[in-house]
Amino acid sequence: MKVSPSLISARLEFLADEIEKCHAGGASSFHLDVMDGAFVPNLTMGPDLVKAIRKCTSLSLECHLMLERPDKYYRSFFDAGGNIMLIHVESPISTGNLLKELKNQGIPYGVVINPETRFEMAKPFLENAEILLIMSVHPGFSGQKFIPDSILKVKEARKYIDENGLDVDIEVDGGINLENAAACRNAGADIAVSASYIFSENVEERVSGLRDL
Ligand code: DX5
Ligand code: ZN
Repeated sequence: MKVSPSLISARLEFLADEIEKCHAGGASSFHLDVMDGAFVPNLTMGPDLVKAIRKCTSLSLECHLMLERPDKYYRSFFDAGGNIMLIHVESPISTGNLLKELKNQGIPYGVVINPETRFEMAKPFLENAEILLIMSVHPGFSGQKFIPDSILKVKEARKYIDENGLDVDIEVDGGINLENAAACRNAGADIAVSASYIFSENVEERVSGLRDL
């Protein structure tokens, strides 16, 4: 499956080196967790860090916007070199209006649902989305435990996407390791996001192990 390492758990003092190891392992993209301390109880990266990461890789940069106001900030992440904006349906703004705006500006996007959000809620937004991101932990921190029910959601989404002929990749994010990634793959997931599993050991091997699934 495709692997999108989340740099949230990379050793920030050696970021360029960590990115190189992910390239060597066969990563398909990088996952950038953007947190505002309001939508989730944690703070992470801003556009300047995305700009620096852009200089270290030509792979696609997914900006996972865990923000109360993704509508206010997506442009600066795009201008910094982000390739795709991942938008939570739970953000307290009109998801439909924001996605229309992104589409009008030619900015690729994906739709994200939290563990407690039913797949139903994402359906109206999938037609022009490139990715459906199914959260398998409650967003905010890396190193949490995978929620097994997420696999059922992947299955349900796979069925719907196939039956409706949609061109949307299913991505899973949170607590991913080799074992549950295999289960997600079997259920129909296309992309695995992983932070703590990849960056806690031999980075290249962990990326290639996931990629080989
Ligand atoms: C959670 C983030 C994730 C997460 C991944 O809020 O969206 O991308 O930190 O970390 P691990 O793989 O450690 O769960
Ligand atoms: Zn994420």
